Amino acid sequence: KNIAIIMGGYSSEYKISLISGNVVYQFLDKTKYNGFRIHIFKEKWVYVDANDAEFPIDKNDFSVTVADKKITFDCVFNAIHGTPGEDGLMQAYFELLHIPQTSCDYYQAALTFNKRDLLSVLKPYGIKTATSYYLNKGDAINTEEIVAKVGLPCFVKPNKAGSSFGISKVKTAAELPIAIEMAYKEDNEIIIESFLDGIEVSVGVINYKGKVTVLPITEIVSDNDFFDYEAKYLGKSQEITPARISDEMTQKVSDIAKRAYEVLKMKGFSRSEFILVNGEPHMLEMNTIPGLTTESLIPQQAKAAGISLEDLFTNAIELALT
Ligand code: DAL
Ligand code: MG
Repeated sequence: KNIAIIMGGYSSEYKISLISGNVVYQFLDKTKYNGFRIHIFKEKWVYVDANDAEFPIDKNDFSVTVADKKITFDCVFNAIHGTPGEDGLMQAYFELLHIPQTSCDYYQAALTFNKRDLLSVLKPYGIKTATSYYLNKGDAINTEEIVAKVGLPCFVKPNKAGSSFGISKVKTAAELPIAIEMAYKEDNEIIIESFLDGIEVSVGVINYKGKVTVLPITEIVSDNDFFDYEAKYLGKSQEITPARISDEMTQKVSDIAKRAYEVLKMKGFSRSEFILVNGEPHMLEMNTIPGLTTESLIPQQAKAAGISLEDLFTNAIELALT
């Protein structure tokens, strides 16, 4: 079977995506699948062969012609973090073309990629969140009103982005305008959240062999002020799997992550982030195209569950094809 591994994307996360995509390519079961690395950039969509030669993708049917031979794909393995791979755009395109894909459907992708909308959909199901304040580009910035609502310190985040790009922890009202300006570089909407003082955990939920499965939980201890880009990818954190929390706590947060997955009718991968505040999990977000680099959490969690990367990727493809 021909598997198109799509990577790159139009956001600041493209470099991480290229690493994720190459990990998928490397660990693809070669006895079952032919992997094709496809770079999706604003300027070009191209198939990149083993010699790094590039061949343009025909967007009409997502095919590529190499040496007069047209190649089509049986399945798309989506490794694009951020737009257009994680926010529903690519998902909708492949749904229109009837090409099976490893990611969730376009609606779930669009919803989960929007932090505000995701959390407001989950709230009625009893899933706790930080107190938040929402802004659109061009809105007046009333720092007094923001601080009255979310308190200090607080987090300023782009509403639709990943890998902590554009996020700052703000300690004084005076720092708010700069933090807001930084977040607007990544998105035209921002969300400002109260600081949750507790233990940060990351919970992977996947459909494994037909069953919604919670992977071993990772506890995140950042050397920096929070789990920022440097902490995530440049070693400035400890990621401990399984998390050093009680069995009861593990069960509680696993149940919530699984519930969110089921309520949203998710498919494929998901990785949700929580802060445990006095034994109460508060949800920050859900990633539907979680990082698959060797530094990333889902590969660590799969390993702790005894699932090899080869097996993890085969499972995702088989699920997409059924
Ligand atoms: N957004 C990054 C890639 C992650 O969730 O792992
Ligand atoms: Mg994220």
